[in-house]
Amino acid sequence: MSITKKMVLSNIILLIVPVISLFFIDIVLGYLIIVSLNGSTGTFITLRFISIILVFLLVNVTISWLVSRHIIRPIQMLNEHARKIGEGDLDTPVTVNRNDEIGSLSDSFETMRKNLKTLREKEDAYNRNRQILMAGLSHDLKTPLTSMKGYVNGIADGVADTVEKRHRYTETINQSIERMESMINELFLYSKLDLEEVEFHFSPVQLAPYFSDIVSEYQLDHPEIMIELQGSQHLAVSADREQFYRAVSNIIGNSIKYRGQEPLLIQINIFSKDGFVYIDIKDNGAGIDEHDLPHVFETFYRTDQSRNSTTGGSGLGLAIVKRIIEKHDGEINISSLLNKETVVSIKLPQVML
Ligand SMILES: Nc1ncnc2c1ncn2[C@@H]1O[C@H](COP(=O)(O)OP(=O)(O)OP(=O)(O)O)[C@@H](O)[C@H]1O
Ligand SMILES: [Mg+2]
Repeated sequence: MSITKKMVLSNIILLIVPVISLFFIDIVLGYLIIVSLNGSTGTFITLRFISIILVFLLVNVTISWLVSRHIIRPIQMLNEHARKIGEGDLDTPVTVNRNDEIGSLSDSFETMRKNLKTLREKEDAYNRNRQILMAGLSHDLKTPLTSMKGYVNGIADGVADTVEKRHRYTETINQSIERMESMINELFLYSKLDLEEVEFHFSPVQLAPYFSDIVSEYQLDHPEIMIELQGSQHLAVSADREQFYRAVSNIIGNSIKYRGQEPLLIQINIFSKDGFVYIDIKDNGAGIDEHDLPHVFETFYRTDQSRNSTTGGSGLGLAIVKRIIEKHDGEINISSLLNKETVVSIKLPQVML
C-alpha cells in the first residue's frame, strides 16, 4: 500500500475510532452510571470526558507508533545507507523490501550504489592500467638505453679501435634509437587513443578493394609471402580508412614478424553474418601459447618468444588495434595453436552501400 493511502487510512481511523468510541462510551457509561448505579449526570459527564480523552490518546499513540514503524524507520535506514555510501562503502546493498514510495526510493538508491561501484571499479582498472603502462615503459626504455650507453662508452674508451668496429657500434646505437623512437610513437598514439584525442573520420568502406590494395602493397614488399584474400565483393563497413589501415597492418605485421614454418601463408577471409561483417586474418606462423593468449591485447605484453627475438616489438601493437576496433563499434578476438596458426578475427557492424 502506498504511503498516501496509508496516511488517508490513518486519518480516517483517527476520526472514526473516537466517534464510534463516543457512542459506545455514551451507551455503556450511561447505562452503568445512571441506570445501574443511580449516579448523577455530573459524574456521567466527568467520566465521559475522561474516557474520550483516553480514547483520543490511545488512538493517537497507536497511529503514531504505526506511522513511525512503517515510514520513519525505513527512512532512517535509508539515511544510514546514504551515509555509508557517502563514506565510500559501496559494497553493502540497499535493501528495504517495500512496495511503496520508500521501496522505490530504496531501489533508486540501490541502482545508484551499483552504478557508483561500477564507476569505481572502472577507475581502479584504469589506474592499474596506467601503473602497468608506466612500469612497462620504464622497463622497455631501459633496455635500448643500457645498450646505447655500453656502445657509446665503447667508442669513448677506444674499445672500438677500427673503422669497421666503430661503424658496427654506431649502427647498433642507431637501431636502439629507432627502437626507442618507434616505442615512444606507439605509446603516444596509445595515450591519445586512451584519452579519446584521436579524431576518427568514418566513411563507408567496401572491404574487397580495400583489402586488395593492402595485399598488393604487402606482396610488393614481401614477395616471398603468400597472401590469399577471399570473401564477398559487396561487403562494406563504416571505418576511418587511416586508423583501420593501422589496425590491419599491425595484425599482418605480427604474422610476418612471428612467422614459423616457411613459406608464410596469410589468409584473409571476409564474410557476413547477422548484420555483422567478420574479417579473419589467419597465418601459419609461430602461434601463441594458450597461457599468453588472454594477455596479448594488454599493453606491453609480449610472449617470451617475441621478447627473445630481435624482431620483437614493444607489445603495444595489439592494444592499439583493440582500441581502434572498439572505436569502430567492433570486437576483436584472437585464437591460436602453438607452432601451427594464429587467427585474428574482427567483427564490425555491416553497412549497406
Ligand atoms: N600472428 C602472431 N603470431 C604469433 N605471435 C603473435 C602474433 N600476433 C601477436 N603475437 C604475440 O603477441 C604479442 C603481442 O603483440 P603486439 O602486436 O601487441 O606486440 P608486439 O608485436 O610485440 O609489439 P609492437 O606491435 O608494439 O611492435 C607479441 O609480442 C607476440 O608474442
Ligand atoms: Mg605487433
